[in-house]
Amino acid sequence: MITLSWLCAALALALAPNSYAFAITGLQGGVNAATGERPIRQEISVFQYAGAAFDLYILALQQLMQRDQADPFSFYRIAGIHGYPHTSWDGAVGQFSNGYCPHGSILFPTWHRAYMVLFEQILSGLAQQIASTYPESSKATYQSAASTLRVPYWDWASETSMPDVINQPNININTPNGSQTIANPLYNYTFHPLPSPPDFPNVKQGKYPSTVRYPDDKGRSQPSGANAALKHNAGGIRATIYNLLTQVQTYAAFSNTGSNDGRTSSYNSLENLHNAIHILVGGNYGHMQYISLSSFDPVFFLHHVNVDRLFAMWQAVYADTYLTAQVDAAGTYTNTPGASEDVTSALTPFHLDDSGTFHTSNTTRSTRAFGYTYPELLDWNMDHQILAFDVKGHINELYGPKTTASKRRSETRLTVAEMSHDYSINVVVNGSDITSGMYVRLFLGPIPKQENLWSTASSLVGSHIINGPSRGLVFGQIPLTPKLINYNLSSLGSETVIPLIQKILNYRIQSFDGRSVGVNILPSLKFAVVSRNVTHLGPNEFPEYGPLVTYPDATKSLWPHGLHEGESMPA
Ligand SMILES: *[C@@H]1O[C@H](CO)[C@@H](O)[C@H](O)[C@H]1NC(C)=O
Ligand SMILES: *[C@@H]1O[C@H](CO)[C@@H](O)[C@H](O)[C@H]1NC(C)=O
Ligand SMILES: *[C@@H]1O[C@H](CO)[C@@H](O)[C@H](O)[C@H]1NC(C)=O
Ligand SMILES: *[C@@H]1O[C@H](CO)[C@@H](O)[C@H](O)[C@H]1NC(C)=O
Ligand SMILES: *[C@@H]1O[C@H](CO)[C@@H](O)[C@H](O)[C@H]1NC(C)=O
Ligand SMILES: *[C@@H]1O[C@H](CO)[C@@H](O)[C@H](O)[C@H]1NC(C)=O
Repeated sequence: MITLSWLCAALALALAPNSYAFAITGLQGGVNAATGERPIRQEISVFQYAGAAFDLYILALQQLMQRDQADPFSFYRIAGIHGYPHTSWDGAVGQFSNGYCPHGSILFPTWHRAYMVLFEQILSGLAQQIASTYPESSKATYQSAASTLRVPYWDWASETSMPDVINQPNININTPNGSQTIANPLYNYTFHPLPSPPDFPNVKQGKYPSTVRYPDDKGRSQPSGANAALKHNAGGIRATIYNLLTQVQTYAAFSNTGSNDGRTSSYNSLENLHNAIHILVGGNYGHMQYISLSSFDPVFFLHHVNVDRLFAMWQAVYADTYLTAQVDAAGTYTNTPGASEDVTSALTPFHLDDSGTFHTSNTTRSTRAFGYTYPELLDWNMDHQILAFDVKGHINELYGPKTTASKRRSETRLTVAEMSHDYSINVVVNGSDITSGMYVRLFLGPIPKQENLWSTASSLVGSHIINGPSRGLVFGQIPLTPKLINYNLSSLGSETVIPLIQKILNYRIQSFDGRSVGVNILPSLKFAVVSRNVTHLGPNEFPEYGPLVTYPDATKSLWPHGLHEGESMPA
């Protein structure tokens, strides 16, 4: 069915470019339509042992990457939907100097959901063709694996480094011709040919022949550097995801950096955390760091399937809340900057059917319609409340504090006692202050003189990322508690913590190309130290958080950027 519609679409395209629509329907193989039971997208470090399914996934991805870059169903063109080369896909005509991907927009989670389904559908079509070429003795096994194949994710919050399977240049799999070692398609993508400006921007990342992670000065990929950076930030990443899932209760605040939850003033968002992973993996001029080129690195898809999974888990807990209209300051290739978006906005270029109708956030609300789910969301034969109870248990177990202390201080996970208070820094910047990507780096303690040491300094608390210019405010939140516990404080009460923060909190601005930039470049930058007390409840309940308290004393010496008495943060 899928293969057929795919072939039809490809044929139609060959005959008349732009005159067809590729329907993003998801996959029905392995789905029980009556109960809603459906195949699971698995974590990559588990999926790598899936045998036939993993072999097919690797071979399908390899074939996708080998396709001519002019083919609309090549890896290059599918990846090219996201940002550069700013060309149209499946007839969705655009006019703005952006990719199709919405950022700082309520469409961020739903657009990327449709995107991952498109990727999954195309890989599945290829996997089914490949399965049919296995020898008779194993063909049935491979065909069965192909029919239920779903794309894996990388859970960067519970295993905060990329597993080896993503980073080994070669990989051994069982092909139709027997066991073979091939270039690992999860490791990189080699452009053939490498686009030149204006298709690709005139930046370092645009000039590498293959995608790279955390490259050294000679442009050689250093995945171990990316993993070190990820591990360095592991405590913060885990605290951020836990706070996000347990505290942020409105879709608008949860979904993107362009709004916050007025009720709780939580500046945390899924998009903000997702940005941090991009930056850490890309590192020093790698593709993942440059959002508009990031999708060419195959790890992008593992990352975004995980983003979709976190979105789906959040949806299971807060099932009644969904999109409310919001202005998209940045806009996209097709969406006018500054226009309002809502649940009916088209998720271009993703078509719902072959008559030209686009998906919307309404048609992408549920994973069930697309025929996949995640290990924590076995939602069939379960009502909403039981599902929410179940998912909360998984969230506590995966990302919550532990009930007993670990002997190793290198352990990145807080204990319940340490998490009796939750301190964070809320940060906001007006995107029109800048002309290119910037980090706001926050430190507790000494800041290295050389800016190239900032991102790995032990005093770095976290970085607020502004991807590029936009007319809107960019909100973010950086957890402080995981750093504070290294100070052996007698308590986490504000009488102990705030004077310490006041003494040792500082910040720097750094451009995406690594240069130190004077703080005056961001006149609108504002940050504030906030906290809430936390009462931990049962294993399947979220903690109870006290009211949000702001501490102007903690940042008054950093004025005009640190909040001071009598001021309030933008909402
Ligand atoms: C298997 O071998 C055949 C014949 O040499 C070749 O055409 C085909 O591409 C090979 N398939 C794979 C998946 O390596
Ligand atoms: C990864 O990059 C290297 C070096 O450019 C190249 O030899 C290898 O074929 C690439 N792998 C893939 C899967 O493109
Ligand atoms: C959303 O989709 C449902 C069916 O899935 C439909 O009943 C409803 O009218 C749609 N709402 C909007 C605002 O399009
Ligand atoms: C951001 O700054 C621009 C230029 O100064 C201004 O026009 C705009 O209103 C500001 N946006 C917000 C949301 O404050
Ligand atoms: C906290 O205590 C540990 C173990 O006693 C010690 O190694 C570490 O240096 C102390 N940290 C600070 C910031 O004093
Ligand atoms: C949390 O803070 C509120 C307000 O400051 C206070 O009333 C409450 O007793 C605190 N709860 C705990 C468990 O500390």
